Amino acid sequence: MKKSTHKLFNRRNFMLTSALAAASTAGYARYVEPGRLTVTRKTIHLPKLPAALDGLVIAQLTDIHYKPEEQDQLMVDAVKAVNAAEPDIIALTGDYIEGSPKVFDPLMATLSGLKAKHGIYSILGNHDGWSSHPGRFRQGFRKAGFEFLQNQGTCIDIKGEHLFIVGTDSIYTGKVDAPACFRGHQNEPVLALVHEPDVFDALRSRFPVSLQLSGHTHGGQCRVPFIGYAPMKVKYGRNYIYGEYAREDSKIFVSRGLGTVGANVRFACTPEVAILTLRAQA
Ligand SMILES: [Fe+2]
Repeated sequence: MKKSTHKLFNRRNFMLTSALAAASTAGYARYVEPGRLTVTRKTIHLPKLPAALDGLVIAQLTDIHYKPEEQDQLMVDAVKAVNAAEPDIIALTGDYIEGSPKVFDPLMATLSGLKAKHGIYSILGNHDGWSSHPGRFRQGFRKAGFEFLQNQGTCIDIKGEHLFIVGTDSIYTGKVDAPACFRGHQNEPVLALVHEPDVFDALRSRFPVSLQLSGHTHGGQCRVPFIGYAPMKVKYGRNYIYGEYAREDSKIFVSRGLGTVGANVRFACTPEVAILTLRAQA
């Protein structure tokens, strides 16, 4: 009798402990991790990078999916972290908002505090296309002094060397016009801003992409701790989920981004500001 009572208590204890662990994990994923900013510092070696661009610092912010109040502190922290890195270039790679376009102006009030020596370059993501029209974003970015690239390229001068920055439209909600992006390109190294990472293969097969920066996947948003497996896959974000990948002479970096999509949770995949330092390939 004593033995079976023990067993019953043990089973109850196990169930209670499991339920508490599940509840605290869910609470952490919902209320803690989405606000825990990580600053990822990474060196990316690029073949054929001119000496003048060696050491160039690019800060990338992506996939904010801005939720007023809930993300206000996160955005203040993100802007502070970017400015503290004193970047040469800031790349904003889309999905600023989701749903109501009304939240774009309040978000821009914070983002307009960003500072970079050689400019801030922005493109659109699929959720931006679903939420509003490009003109609204263009106007907001221009007001803040950001360059808005929608199937366009621009050549900038850094210490007497040229860098060609390409910004595509979202392949999901728009159309990627690669020839238009590369119009005027000669031999300069190319930084390509493309929201959806899987565009990389098609783009680099026809054009000389030195480095592509993308978001869209949120790094999986919820990952299996230690293993890093991300069960959530999204269209145009299946081949490159998170981090740096190399394909021949081209590289891509995919950031986890800052916000959430769908269920408002993150797990083992904290919001990220990426600070990337370019180095000439050893
Ligand atoms: Fe996104």
